[in-house]
Amino acid sequence: MFSRDTVARFQNLETPFYYYDLNVLDQTLMSCKAASEKFAFHVHYALKANFNEQILKAIQKSGFGADCVSGNEVKKAIEIGFDPGKVVFAGVGKSDREINEALDNNIYCFNVESVQELGVINELALKQGKQARVAIRINPNVDAHTHQYITTGLEENKFGVNQWELPACVEELKRCSNLELIGIHFHVGSQITNLDVFKSLCLKVNELNTWFLERGFDLKVLNVGGGLGVDYHHPDENAVNDFMSFFEIYDRFLERRTGQEVHFELGRALVAQCGSLISRILYVKNGLKKNFLVLDAGMTELMRPALYQAYHKIENITADSANSIVSYDVVGPICESTDCFGKEVELPESKRGDIIAIRSAGAYGEVMASGYNLRERVRSVYS
Ligand code: LLP
Repeated sequence: MFSRDTVARFQNLETPFYYYDLNVLDQTLMSCKAASEKFAFHVHYALKANFNEQILKAIQKSGFGADCVSGNEVKKAIEIGFDPGKVVFAGVGKSDREINEALDNNIYCFNVESVQELGVINELALKQGKQARVAIRINPNVDAHTHQYITTGLEENKFGVNQWELPACVEELKRCSNLELIGIHFHVGSQITNLDVFKSLCLKVNELNTWFLERGFDLKVLNVGGGLGVDYHHPDENAVNDFMSFFEIYDRFLERRTGQEVHFELGRALVAQCGSLISRILYVKNGLKKNFLVLDAGMTELMRPALYQAYHKIENITADSANSIVSYDVVGPICESTDCFGKEVELPESKRGDIIAIRSAGAYGEVMASGYNLRERVRSVYS
């Protein structure tokens, strides 16, 4: 929901742009912080969801760690002020340069995704005369029941090592004297709304935690990744996730030995609801069977609908709400048929110049923008 003042402000700005409500962000961060502290859980923010500097600064100030998936994300996190001792680095394809830079920065932990990667990190750490802390990312084969493009924990995914490869990991670790195994790491997918999925993950983690103990590894860290979904249909009513229920599942079902820490890597749930893509209607096209609203924002600014058929709530925030309701396909200006934000969206009758808000766009929105069609870089505006 946008106040009158905010809408008046938008009317004086060139579109499209991302609008971030820093108030919603703060409320979300406070709520997550309070709930995680209740259980002494550690939360790392997954930078991949949004690395806009203002957002990162707010998250860093709240005391969260950082979960990075590229050397540049590691660099950015440290520049912003995240404590390197709270930076974890995941990714199936870390280059030697990225590993070396992370070693230079003494990051907390590498989440390692293959047996071969263990050897490479060991070799590079040896050259630098360092011990690298590592956690093995294990593919738990737990179905996240989410869109197939964002399911990561099934056996056929490229991520992590499979359970049958664990004996080989243990052998390799014995050989690698410059590695310290501190934990195991999991991530089953994103936009998970069924909390039972996290319970299944806990049961799997318990099994593997014991497996490692039996082989002499008393792990310090159980990193269960991220994945908590948000309510794309009700961005105002459910602006802040129920973090307490989420963490309670882990508290209830995850067995921890004394001193064992539980780490999370939340992205979407921290930033999705604070962001909206704000756009103007360029043209209204009335066809025989369909009406189109052509916006000045497209898949180059927000790719999720085109890429994952993702739903985002679309609102006309300047139309008179007394207007009759019309069904529109809301599309962008890009030369691709998938450049469509929503089909048969019911909106008050709309006209050229009206302002459209595409909600819950704070996560995987701005960061996935592209320059296709030589589009300009999308700007951002803050509350
Ligand atoms: N940890 C790891 C290892 C991950 O791969 C991810 C996300 C996260 C944490 C954070 O997950 P979250 O809490 O945000 O669900 N672009 C897609 C989502 C891709 C997620 C990739 N990995 C989308 O727009 O839905």
